[in-house]
Amino acid sequence: MKKMEQLYEGKAKKVFKTDDENLYIVDYKDDATAFNGLKKGQIAGKGVVNNKMSNFLMQIMEKNGIPTHFVEEISDRETVVKRVEIVPLEVIIRNIAAGSFSKRFGVEEGKKLNCTTLEYCLKNDDLGDPMINDYQIIAIGAATKEDLDTIADLTFKVNDVLKAYFESINIELVDFKIEFGKTPDGQIILADEISPDTCRLWDATTHEKLDKDRFRRDMGNVEEAYAEVFKRLGL
Ligand code: C5P
Repeated sequence: MKKMEQLYEGKAKKVFKTDDENLYIVDYKDDATAFNGLKKGQIAGKGVVNNKMSNFLMQIMEKNGIPTHFVEEISDRETVVKRVEIVPLEVIIRNIAAGSFSKRFGVEEGKKLNCTTLEYCLKNDDLGDPMINDYQIIAIGAATKEDLDTIADLTFKVNDVLKAYFESINIELVDFKIEFGKTPDGQIILADEISPDTCRLWDATTHEKLDKDRFRRDMGNVEEAYAEVFKRLGL
């Protein structure tokens, strides 16, 4: 497989074309941003943790019948993935109140929610990724009703599998964001990443934060938190 020209550079990753038109290579960076790019920094070793952790979890998803973009890890920071067109939605699941949910609805951080919630944000940096509902998504054509139904079903399934897995390593899955892509033949598959950048992960005993909130909130020990999750996953 030959790495060809860069297709895109995001806040935490670069994506390259390959000599196979159906495959891309993702290259994970140590760069960290928060608050729609307003806060910038680096988390040493994050690219390696996120690459390996995301690949590990994507393979668990596959074993549980959730189709993903994962193909092959080719280095500490690089992975071959299926070519997809990203559905322009951030799909967020919350099991416990935190972050923007706590702020928006005045619910104390850490409160277990009466039911798991699903919410969507439109991926648009210029607009600050606004929250969007099902009707609005279909109305503006960000996804079809059929695709959105598939996305919702798969997302709850991802939550069930991920939550159980993290529980087994004494971590509470507070909330997470995932993204989906559409393959050239029209299949909706899990894409992007699953990592401490995109999940809130709390130690189940001490409730210590083991995720990007340590960077967002200047709490210190950011690298150590990422390394702890990595270690508990046996990576
Ligand atoms: O900030 P908020 O509470 O809405 O975040 C919900 C979840 O989505 C968190 O796990 C956060 O890490 C993730 N998220 C993300 N990328 C964004 C916004 C949120 O991964 N741009």
